[in-house]
Amino acid sequence: MTETVEVTGRGYGKLIVFGEHAVVYGRPAVACSLSSGAVARLSFSDDPGWTVSHRSRPLSVDDRAKKAVSELLAVFDLRSDELRIHVDLSIPVGAGLGSSAAMATALARGAAELRNLDISSARKLVDRAVEASEAVFHGKPSGIDQRAASGQGFFSFRRGDDALHIEPLEVPDFRWVVARVAPSPPTSEMVASVAAMREEKRESLTSVFDDIGSIAERGAAALRQGRWSRVGELMNRNQVLLASLGVSSPALDRACEAARQAGALGAKLTGAGGGGCILAAAGNEHGVDEVLCEFGDVYSFVLPTAEHGH
Ligand code: MEV
Repeated sequence: MTETVEVTGRGYGKLIVFGEHAVVYGRPAVACSLSSGAVARLSFSDDPGWTVSHRSRPLSVDDRAKKAVSELLAVFDLRSDELRIHVDLSIPVGAGLGSSAAMATALARGAAELRNLDISSARKLVDRAVEASEAVFHGKPSGIDQRAASGQGFFSFRRGDDALHIEPLEVPDFRWVVARVAPSPPTSEMVASVAAMREEKRESLTSVFDDIGSIAERGAAALRQGRWSRVGELMNRNQVLLASLGVSSPALDRACEAARQAGALGAKLTGAGGGGCILAAAGNEHGVDEVLCEFGDVYSFVLPTAEHGH
């Protein structure tokens, strides 16, 4: 077999501003796609194999990632032993910023191009393939990461009984700061721990999910209007509710408090929690970045338009 032309696919990371976990149970949430994420390069090859890197530094590929990729490729009737694949991630892995959905979307878009599919079949198969891959990583994904991975700004998201309700949100530019506070357990573990708590305390969790959903709705309105103090206040309330679900941690709580003390209008964990990142509504308060550097890597994003890591 000769090596074919290499194709490229892209997928994007995300920040969940309101509503993680409750979104799995049909409540509304708000997220924003990042302009960074994953770039996948694929070609048919006699010398098959696949590699993943983060900003060009090699990452190891575990069995779960192998399973996710082979399920994803099977949707396109492709096998990893006939392809040469490389994925480079520009967002940290396992930090709640949507690296698995970004990688799956990049690979699926590349696979669709390799198969020369028309736009409408490509769209359907990319959706199905990313869903298959996300099910391996997340257990019971709401689909919010998958939606964000396809790109484009802020949006509100709700998983209905038989349809997704997605609404793009026009939000004025604002500076957000993300700090990677601790390594995070797999998302599937955190989703499973909330599911186990729900089995025990169904009524109280229903009311926590309802409260988170209502915060997300009010948060979407505040974001649209650029009412940043209100956004921050709602983020703080969302964080208290996430802590009551057992998905925060002492380190995440401390980092949120430090960000607020340094002038952030609000702060909460973002993603599945248990570790990972916090998100702070920082605006012009650059002291937030400084104080968060003591907790881990810090990224500053002017959303929806630009982002910088430092
Ligand atoms: C993970 O980024 C967000 C969760 O709500 C899981 C999901 O929505 O699939 C924790």
